[in-house]
Amino acid sequence: MVSSCCSVSLLSCTSTINLSFSSFGIGPGDEVIVPDLTWIASSAPINYVGATPVFAGVDEKTWCLSAKSFAQLINPKAKAVIVVDPYGNMSDMVSIRKVARRHAIAVIEDAAEAVGSEYKGCKAGSFRESGVFSFHGSKTLTTGEGGMLVTNREGIYRRSFFLRDHGRSPGDKMFWNAEVAYKYKMSSMQAALGLAQLERIDELVERKRQIFNWYQSELGNIQGVTLNYEAVDTKNTYWMVTVVLDQKLGLQKDVLMALMSEKSIDCRPFFHPLSSIPAYQKLEQAKKARQRNKNDYKISPFGLNLPCGMNMTREKVAHVCDVLKSTLGVG
Ligand SMILES: Cc1ncc(COP(=O)(O)O)c(C=O)c1O
Repeated sequence: MVSSCCSVSLLSCTSTINLSFSSFGIGPGDEVIVPDLTWIASSAPINYVGATPVFAGVDEKTWCLSAKSFAQLINPKAKAVIVVDPYGNMSDMVSIRKVARRHAIAVIEDAAEAVGSEYKGCKAGSFRESGVFSFHGSKTLTTGEGGMLVTNREGIYRRSFFLRDHGRSPGDKMFWNAEVAYKYKMSSMQAALGLAQLERIDELVERKRQIFNWYQSELGNIQGVTLNYEAVDTKNTYWMVTVVLDQKLGLQKDVLMALMSEKSIDCRPFFHPLSSIPAYQKLEQAKKARQRNKNDYKISPFGLNLPCGMNMTREKVAHVCDVLKSTLGVG
């Protein structure tokens, strides 16, 4: 009997989302609600199991799934919602879970970018039927590639364990698979890397927060530049330090990224709305989302991730900010 949180180590966060759906029994004919402004890994597994992604809008300030947008998309086909913790921030989980409970919708918290983040004193990944993490090379805790599914539902735990190893449970008759399933197990080498970092996760998280604070002290008072938001009851772990420019500055992310690159500063664009990318171009749900999700289309063109790897120093951050300010013609 699983009475507390249990974890299943897997190949990637993408595979954790895939196994979450398979464990919930989501498939063809079902809809899964997912924020429009996220990485495709949040939504691709919806397609893997034959369900349909429905793209919900994000909140303008937090960049997280809007509870209102989620509620408006509920219909009898909607079976699950993916709540993403973007760049280490956390959604209004109280409102989202209230809506989900009312309509019996399963919650998957995609905490791929948010190891160590907190909402009302509870850790990212704990607001769910399942919570999922990524240990990809870019992440705060990394095993090169890797992922973790956490749950306190015995059925989900056991089913994921079974599905991740070609459809057999630990201790089953050897080479006697009960179902065709997946090869999604994390290797012991990856697990060793991850466990070593887990021992100093507080230090890693604090380093991320320190890097963000350096950026905030340089850019926090510049008009037209908005940095990642942290609500009073939230601990944001700032996986990516991100700026969103006011449209009035007239500088879109691709142009700004090219200008920063000319000065040898490597930035990344804010995610594009999923409903805008070629992969979903023809999907009926994407057409509707393009009309509906105003915030996503307002934020994304003007958002840029700044350099924020663990090797950043105060001096390097100051240099990035000097270049950014001179590019913007401010400060
Ligand atoms: C929000 C989000 N979900 C899922 C993933 C997928 O993680 P992985 O690369 O471990 O499959 C990522 C990866 O960057 C992500 O940012």
